[in-house]
Amino acid sequence: MENKEINLEMIPFSIEDLKNELGEERFRHTQAVLEAAISLSEQLSIDLKKAKAAALLHDIAKNKTAAEMKALIADSDWQVDQLELSILPVLHAPAGAVIAEKKYKIKDREILEAIRFHTLGHPQMGKLAQLIYTADFIAEGRDFEGIDQLREAVKLDFKRGLYLIVSRVIEYQLKQDNFIHPYSNNLRNKLIKEK
Ligand SMILES: [Fe+2]
Ligand SMILES: [Fe+2]
Repeated sequence: MENKEINLEMIPFSIEDLKNELGEERFRHTQAVLEAAISLSEQLSIDLKKAKAAALLHDIAKNKTAAEMKALIADSDWQVDQLELSILPVLHAPAGAVIAEKKYKIKDREILEAIRFHTLGHPQMGKLAQLIYTADFIAEGRDFEGIDQLREAVKLDFKRGLYLIVSRVIEYQLKQDNFIHPYSNNLRNKLIKEK
């Protein structure tokens, strides 16, 4: 229940600053994730202000180089294992959590956790983190086969939708001969157990 008072007005940055940092295209994606997060926060009865803050900052590290992201992570308390460090497309999540805390002064652990785990997921991720992970995947602008069914599934039964998304991510990585990080696999296993 920490930082209950947090709201968008208290975050020390303007939408213009964010737009400049993210660039036009990423800002458009961020806006789409924000919209998806707003509607999910109603569906799941999750604090709207926290959902907004996490959505706005989730990709804040995307323009950083691999070296910059690794340096940010090394200088933080987040545990990032060797496997995760070797998967460059996911590193903007822990690096983003560091930027959100240090530059944007976010103290709320749930918001930071939502940013930190939005790429790999995590079996212990909380509801806000699950919301952001899902919003990122189904946001407007995402276009792949089956996206509409996934959006529908999330609306009908959030946990089932989340399960389908994690399964979909793992399936994709398998097809690409990529690593499957245990966080993703363990999240999927946990969602099966909870069914
Ligand atoms: Fe991302
Ligand atoms: Fe994203």
